[in-house]
Amino acid sequence: MNPTMTPGPVAAANHKESLVNNVMETRGLRVAYSGRDVLHGVDLPFGTGLVTAMVGPSGCGKTTLLRTLNRLSELTPGCKVGGQVTIDGEDCLHMDPVLLRRRVGMVFQRPNLFPMSIRENVLYGVKAQGTTPKERYEELLEGSLRKAVIWEEVKDRLDECALALSGGQQQRICIARTLAVEPEVILMDEPAGSLDPRSTGKLEESILAMRGDVTVVIVTHDVPQARRVSDRLAFMYHGHIVEVGDTRQLFENPAQDATREYLAGGLVTINTETDDSIDLSGVAVAE
Ligand SMILES: Nc1ncnc2c1ncn2[C@@H]1O[C@H](COP(=O)(O)OP(=O)(O)O)[C@@H](O)[C@H]1O
Ligand SMILES: [Mg+2]
Repeated sequence: MNPTMTPGPVAAANHKESLVNNVMETRGLRVAYSGRDVLHGVDLPFGTGLVTAMVGPSGCGKTTLLRTLNRLSELTPGCKVGGQVTIDGEDCLHMDPVLLRRRVGMVFQRPNLFPMSIRENVLYGVKAQGTTPKERYEELLEGSLRKAVIWEEVKDRLDECALALSGGQQQRICIARTLAVEPEVILMDEPAGSLDPRSTGKLEESILAMRGDVTVVIVTHDVPQARRVSDRLAFMYHGHIVEVGDTRQLFENPAQDATREYLAGGLVTINTETDDSIDLSGVAVAE
């Protein structure tokens, strides 16, 4: 207990957290595949215009969480979702998933462009939606390619086939295609997973360029990358959020030893079900 009753660093940080506006939020989010729980009641806020990185060992549920934010997980047979996900306070789990996915775009680990020109790829979603006046196409095309930090590389070859580009360039075109429909949130699942270091650097540049305009949630197994690109960091383990907060604070002064160990590159072996030294308060338990 703090004898002076002034807030300690953690309380002060929590207070600061509560002032942040969160465009998206999960509460007590549970996901099971064929009856096996893999997310055990996750409470996670996504601050508006911020980059939130999710890190944790393979199999801890990062992809599942990401795919639940835009309702892709329900396309997996046997997958059941419970709890709450909101966007701007609206219930995501009961709205039209097509409308939700317009607001919450996704970039996958491997680029998935169509065998069409760069221009057609970037404007694909915009045209499919059919709500944007044609006069805006050029502006959206250039603006998205600039934010994806690939405009200079492709501006003279917009009508060439996108599949002729390198893997790193294709991934940035995928980002541009996602940005072009002006989503509120972009989800990225290990977007640099298949890229060389130079392309990874460009991709990180593009994440920093879109910061502020769009909310980014990125899953990465690359801890230094999470440190470079994110404002907020969530450490997941066995379907629980062990700790979430300001990225710098988690690296410099984490509340949990397990977070420190994981971020330092150590192996974490904790049992979140039985280890009560892990603060799972605020994490709703699956019913
Ligand atoms: N389609 C699926 N069917 C059954 N189990 C799955 C499926 N996808 C993932 N899982 C399981 O859910 C858990 C979390 O997986 P995942 O979300 O992919 O973790 P991460 O992205 O952190 O590696 C793992 O135990 C994995 O085996
Ligand atoms: Mg994954």
